Amino acid sequence: MLRLAQPVVFCALLCSVCASCPPRCECSEAAHTVKCVSKDLRSIPSGIPGYTRNLFITGNQISRIGPECFKGLDNVTTLSLSNNRISDVESHTFTSLRSLRSLDLSNNQLAVIHPEAFTIQNQSLRELNLSRALYNHSSVMDLATSLRWSSLGTLQGLDLSGNSLIYLPLRIFSHLASLRRLQLSNNSLVSIHNSTFSGLERLEELDLTFNALKTVSEEGLQELDSLPRTRLLLGENPFTCTCGIEPFALWLNRSQRRVRDADSLVCAFPAAMRNTSLLALGKLTLGCHQRAAGADLALQTSYVFLGIVLGFVGLVFLFVLYLNRKGIKKRIYDMRDACREVWEGYHYRYEIDSDPRLSQVSTSADV
Ligand SMILES: *[C@@H]1O[C@H](CO)[C@@H](O)[C@H](O)[C@H]1NC(C)=O
Ligand SMILES: *[C@@H]1O[C@H](CO)[C@@H](O)[C@H](O)[C@H]1NC(C)=O
Ligand SMILES: *[C@@H]1O[C@H](CO)[C@@H](O)[C@H](O)[C@H]1NC(C)=O
Ligand SMILES: *[C@@H]1O[C@H](CO)[C@@H](O)[C@H](O)[C@H]1NC(C)=O
Ligand SMILES: *[C@@H]1O[C@H](CO)[C@@H](O)[C@H](O)[C@H]1NC(C)=O
Ligand SMILES: *[C@@H]1O[C@H](CO)[C@@H](O)[C@H](O)[C@H]1NC(C)=O
Ligand SMILES: *[C@@H]1O[C@H](CO)[C@@H](O)[C@H](O)[C@H]1NC(C)=O
Ligand SMILES: *[C@@H]1O[C@H](CO)[C@@H](O)[C@H](O)[C@H]1NC(C)=O
Repeated sequence: MLRLAQPVVFCALLCSVCASCPPRCECSEAAHTVKCVSKDLRSIPSGIPGYTRNLFITGNQISRIGPECFKGLDNVTTLSLSNNRISDVESHTFTSLRSLRSLDLSNNQLAVIHPEAFTIQNQSLRELNLSRALYNHSSVMDLATSLRWSSLGTLQGLDLSGNSLIYLPLRIFSHLASLRRLQLSNNSLVSIHNSTFSGLERLEELDLTFNALKTVSEEGLQELDSLPRTRLLLGENPFTCTCGIEPFALWLNRSQRRVRDADSLVCAFPAAMRNTSLLALGKLTLGCHQRAAGADLALQTSYVFLGIVLGFVGLVFLFVLYLNRKGIKKRIYDMRDACREVWEGYHYRYEIDSDPRLSQVSTSADV
């Protein structure tokens, strides 16, 4: 009887756990939602009910997540783990979340991201928020590998803002063929290179505001032109309005329809140009060509002048030599005689003094 009762009690306990809510969380079956917000949790709580579609475990102290955390949560479509201290994302952490569409890992400290960290059985993921999620710039290499290996072919939105990114590894997005929206604002990107954005055929929106772009090189402009359907945001960059910016200003004038904030792009440097609209640059003409030509002319003039001066100095020198030719000849002979005397004196002394045997021989010979 007891033996029979035990499993029943166990099962009842299990079911009460299933139906109930993990400690320090709020569950709403009607809304299919579980929230464990700012409760000082150190790990993902167990016993999250199977009906859950929206799971928020935010503002806690969670530092590690792995595949065992989300077993049996087939119905979760939205998972937010923002504002934790997650530093490691292990392989296949989210695999069992077979309906997951939106994953928010913003405001974490991801230092180690496994190559298959974001692999999901059903390839259902649409939105990935990694805003302020990377520990430092070094993590971007891990991220690049992971974006390639995690089969994210269905991803439509990726937020990488606020990650102190200085450069983007080449072809980092090349496996995100469905991506529509890419947020790269509030990083420290200094340039755009060939194939930085390769593979993003469907991209509709690219946000590059609040970066460190001083200009966009011809290579970068070509790269942006390879995304003809993408609307761009480029504001709040420290554009430097010297001659080098001309191709970018011309491109901007051509691409006003695509660059949504083209009207508000202004120079940040030099001080005299601050707040000048980049679109007005073409009309103002920076005068680069004239100035460059002028500089060339000045340089040539100075070379010619230097040549003339050197030639004149040379002539004077030769003339002085010519006038002094007799004196010089005499002095050379004098010098030769002096040298000879010194040499002979030295030679003599050497023969006498240097070899003790020789000197002995010579003294004995004298005797
Ligand atoms: C997911 O939801 C469906 C229908 O709402 C339900 O039948 C199923 O049991 C749920 N899955 C789990 C693991 O509870
Ligand atoms: C796969 O994901 C889709 C939504 O993208 C969902 O409708 C479907 O039920 C999922 N399949 C499985 C086996 O969970
Ligand atoms: C990503 O998360 C940040 C902070 O939690 C939020 O401000 C931002 O709007 C989110 N990005 C998207 C695309 O929803
Ligand atoms: C990033 O953090 C790691 C671990 O602390 C460190 O080794 C690395 O040098 C850091 N990289 C940068 C660019 O600061
Ligand atoms: C950019 O990020 C820094 C820290 O990463 C934050 O303090 C700042 O508010 C962000 N700025 C914008 C405009 O998002
Ligand atoms: C960019 O790369 C493509 C091939 O990936 C190459 O054909 C092209 O010449 C490169 N352009 C520049 C400016 O390097
Ligand atoms: C820059 O120009 C805009 C209008 O074009 C003006 O509203 C703003 O005050 C100016 N800022 C500075 C710092 O001059
Ligand atoms: C900018 O484009 C307009 C046409 O959209 C053109 O009339 C104007 O001359 C261009 N300005 C420069 C400097 O190229």
